[in-house]
Amino acid sequence: MASQVISTGLESVLKKQFKEREMFELTNEDRMYHQMLMANVDENALQWAQKKGLDAQRFMTYYKCAMREIETKLYVLDEEFSLQHDRNPINSIKTRLKSVPSIIEKLQRKEIEISLPAIEQNLDDVAGIRVVCSFVQDVYTIAQALLMQDDITLIERKDYIKHPKENGYRSLHLIVEVPIFLEKEKKNIRVEVQLRTIAMDCWASLEHQLRYKKKLEFTTEMQNELLECAKLSVELDSRMDALKNGINK
Ligand code: GTP
Ligand code: MG
Repeated sequence: MASQVISTGLESVLKKQFKEREMFELTNEDRMYHQMLMANVDENALQWAQKKGLDAQRFMTYYKCAMREIETKLYVLDEEFSLQHDRNPINSIKTRLKSVPSIIEKLQRKEIEISLPAIEQNLDDVAGIRVVCSFVQDVYTIAQALLMQDDITLIERKDYIKHPKENGYRSLHLIVEVPIFLEKEKKNIRVEVQLRTIAMDCWASLEHQLRYKKKLEFTTEMQNELLECAKLSVELDSRMDALKNGINK
């Protein structure tokens, strides 16, 4: 609980402020402190966020803009592909911006100092995009088309489809850098793009839910069962691919 970790006067002052005002009266900055209070972050981190309030907000806005840039590129690719092939390769796109408390929690876990440059240098997943594609081939087609664009720089590529994780997890992960143009400068910002099929997404979402159910003990039998389910999802993908190829012949 945050209240056991944070025991300064600052905590009680902030809590009182939040109690006295309605949530809709809060500024974005207030909301960020509130999130910090609710999360398991220590006193130094809370004070850092308070000191850096506006800077941190501006910094997060860069990530939000970079995420929107990539999202738009993906929608454009989907539109163009559907004109040519009469079907949509992308089933859905989800974006998420890591919250300030979970950025700080990750820095602390990795024993990295808390600063804006340290976030830029060490965290690749502040901005995340999940692209759920129809078929396995679509994952590679979309990834390749995105990486071909001349304002996109590939920083890292992990192919968990060709090389699934031990637990059965499959997806194609890209860390890319995209420029965002501000009033007086250009900034290159990193975004994590996860591409997967519907079957891969189904497995990963359910596995994530099970793993994070804290009351549930994650036994070896459950892990084996999940691996079996992962194999089923591989089979589903390849049978659907075969069907598609049959139709396209
Ligand atoms: P981080 O320090 O956490 O960024 O480690 P990493 O960069 O080595 O992680 P990786 O690229 O392997 O995975 C990053 C993201 O992929 C995670 O935050 C999840 O969203 C997703 N992911 C990776 N492995 C699994 C898994 O086994 N199950 C599920 N459901 N998602 C996973
Ligand atoms: Mg990562």
